Amino acid sequence: DVRSGRGGNAQAAWAALREEAMGCTRCPLYAPATQTVFGEGPVDASLMFVGEQPGDQEDLAGHPFVGPAGQVFDRAVAEAGIDRATAYVTNAVKHFKFEPRGKRRIHSSPNAGEIQACRWWVEQERLLIQPRVTVALGATAARSLFGKVMTIGRERGKALTLPDGGTAFITVHPSYLLRLPDPEAKKVEYARFVEDLKLAAGAIR
Ligand code: URA
Repeated sequence: DVRSGRGGNAQAAWAALREEAMGCTRCPLYAPATQTVFGEGPVDASLMFVGEQPGDQEDLAGHPFVGPAGQVFDRAVAEAGIDRATAYVTNAVKHFKFEPRGKRRIHSSPNAGEIQACRWWVEQERLLIQPRVTVALGATAARSLFGKVMTIGRERGKALTLPDGGTAFITVHPSYLLRLPDPEAKKVEYARFVEDLKLAAGAIR
């Protein structure tokens, strides 16, 4: 157990893990990215959120979910009655993957190999935090956590059991809500997202 194996102090073990992740070269994504964006939150958090990968702003700031998707996430989490500060927030992939286009960096989805390479970090984070409930935000997070392709539409709205025995819920990624062009659909999907978060929060005992 990494908790006891590193001096019995989960906080110190987490700090050491994060430090180690800063130098990660397990996949090629580290090279063009600014920095590793590791998970954040209390090591004794009951709730863990797993996103896809840092975006442009997260890559620059070094913190997860601080850009546009993070703002949607913050609002929805608060509406679901969750204090973000009490949750552990991380990503399936810890480097920003992008295509340069002029001055801009356009988000590019991580592939199966990159998700697999970065799974090791998620597993270490889970061993340390041991959350009661985990929420997969989108397909990449679900794939990382379950080790296989999961269909959000079929799996959302119910408690699932992870291969490591943990309880998890799958919902959409907040970026999906940002991309919806129709304001009415956006409203409906956002409300569903909040309901999914409430369900997850309610499963913490
Ligand atoms: N999208 C994610 O999946 N994670 C972040 O940290 C930011 C945007």
